[in-house]
Amino acid sequence: MSATKTICFANNKGGSGKSTTCANVGYSLSTLGKRVLLIDADMQMNLTLQFFDDEQSLEMAKSQKNIYVGIVEQRDLSDFARATEYENLDLIPSSTLMSGIEFQLFTKWQREFILREGLKKIKESGKYDYILIDAPPTLGCWAMNIMCASDFLVIPVEASPWGLFGLANMFEFYEQVKKISPSLELMGIAITKASERKNYFKQTIETLSSLENVRLFESIIRVDSNIEWSQDNSKPVMVYKKSSRAAGEYMEMAKEILKYADR
Ligand SMILES: Nc1ncnc2c1ncn2[C@@H]1O[C@H](COP(=O)(O)OP(=O)(O)OP(=O)(O)O)[C@@H](O)[C@H]1O
Ligand SMILES: [Mg+2]
Repeated sequence: MSATKTICFANNKGGSGKSTTCANVGYSLSTLGKRVLLIDADMQMNLTLQFFDDEQSLEMAKSQKNIYVGIVEQRDLSDFARATEYENLDLIPSSTLMSGIEFQLFTKWQREFILREGLKKIKESGKYDYILIDAPPTLGCWAMNIMCASDFLVIPVEASPWGLFGLANMFEFYEQVKKISPSLELMGIAITKASERKNYFKQTIETLSSLENVRLFESIIRVDSNIEWSQDNSKPVMVYKKSSRAAGEYMEMAKEILKYADR
């Protein structure tokens, strides 16, 4: 495994907290002194919008240095990273054109490994301790690229009645990816948006705990409106409100991820 560790946040279920988790774990790791590169791999550009305002994000989406251009032109992504306003934290932005990425990949040779190739030089350079990738809510060739480029997979699951639906497909997909990228490891399931007032939360934990070979993160992210306000302000929740519950919970999760990845 290279010194740079790559973690993707993926789940085909939409709205499960992938982008929020990727952004806030990424920021937490950077404040712990880790050099972090975030990659927005979703056409919705939510990770990009978490750190840049609408105007800056649209400018990056139109530029020649976003993930879409990098993948379609099969470029080395080394100079695609933009500095955020935070120390130790860079980001490769996305583009709405990512909606057509499956079509673009279709005719390419070794199409599952294009992202892995694009990141090769960045990893070799040792510039970053962690690369965190925010995946879209799909399971296709692009999701396969993301997982094949990763050492670890984190699956954020929303503690809601529909949060677990489709998770079996996600596990099956992971097993398929492992056939062509055996080093990929499922780090765990991260429960997000848990509301203690509802029993779904406990039910979700019970159901997930009963699954074999699946590890649950101890840190759980509960519902906190500061998350939405922070996103409205294009800031990590720790910067928007340091004392918020979500800020503390995401810091705990980041420490848990560090402990696991550095073991
Ligand atoms: N802990 C939380 N408390 C309150 N709202 C949250 C929390 N986590 C996420 N949200 C909100 O839930 C929505 C979905 O979260 P997010 O965008 O992170 O999920 P996602 O899995 O990336 O979605 P998609 O599948 O569309 O990419 C967002 O509007 C976000 O603001
Ligand atoms: Mg998202």
